[in-house]
Amino acid sequence: MYIFLNDKLVEEAAACVSVFDHGFLYGDGIYETMRSYNGVVFMLDRHIERLGLSASLIRLAPPEEGFLKSAVYETIKSNGLSDAYVRITVSRGKGAIGLDPGLCSRPTFVVIAKEFVEYPPQYYREGTEVMLAKTQRNLVEALDPRIKSLNFLNNILAKAEAIDRGAYEAIMLNKDGFIAEGTVSNVFFVRDGRLCTPSPEAGILEGITREVVIGAAKADGINVVEGLFVPEDVFLAEEVFLTNTTGEIVPVSQLENRTYAVGAMTRHLHDLYRAEVARYLEWAKRVDS
Ligand code: PDD
Repeated sequence: MYIFLNDKLVEEAAACVSVFDHGFLYGDGIYETMRSYNGVVFMLDRHIERLGLSASLIRLAPPEEGFLKSAVYETIKSNGLSDAYVRITVSRGKGAIGLDPGLCSRPTFVVIAKEFVEYPPQYYREGTEVMLAKTQRNLVEALDPRIKSLNFLNNILAKAEAIDRGAYEAIMLNKDGFIAEGTVSNVFFVRDGRLCTPSPEAGILEGITREVVIGAAKADGINVVEGLFVPEDVFLAEEVFLTNTTGEIVPVSQLENRTYAVGAMTRHLHDLYRAEVARYLEWAKRVDS
């Protein structure tokens, strides 16, 4: 496997980062997860934009857009991949021990691309079990969830709760008890025919899949409500699903003791999502030629 490290592709065994890297020492850095379909990275521009936002929020200069795009595609191509999981990581870099970001002179830049492994088909057919985590989502004022940060302990602790319960994903509430998001996903539910999802105000990472789903739903005439919701709202819902780049739209069949069928709206939105992906691939092919 070839890894893009700083300025070039290297064999995995040679892709080593210093133990003095502040990404390792302090979780000081950011990342993006992307998915390529047939060799095309879906919504690459949006991922680059979000990486730029994360970078600016932690006062890190993001790599230049042209460089990012070529590093991503070189990594995919050198590994002979078509449908891939792609991750960009940028850490503060190597520096003396201490919190001062100025101790690091150059960020560490890594792109990993590996074969995309489809989620188990029964997740889509039958849905998944999720739970409400006791671990609260980071306070916006403490560690802004818009930062896709290498400091992922908040989510890891909630994920550990889900694992303890044999659940697929944990839903995290914010400090006011409103639904925020999953540990690696955004939450949607359908109630009285309306598509509801926590608004950015709830303290979430604004998922790119979420954005595509909201756009496709609105274009299809579906009433979309972004707001502040409590767990009772989700218990009263007819359908629930999670979104992220890798899983797209994953239906939920159980939240705590409440069960749900995989409903018509969830399936319809997943069809719309796949149509968006197909349109994007066509567009990317035209731009490329
Ligand atoms: N995670 N919320 C959180 C906390 C996330 O980590 C993610 C994505 C999302 C969904 O964002 P998107 O639709 O842009 O993938 C929401 C990725 C998949 C990850 O951590 O690898």
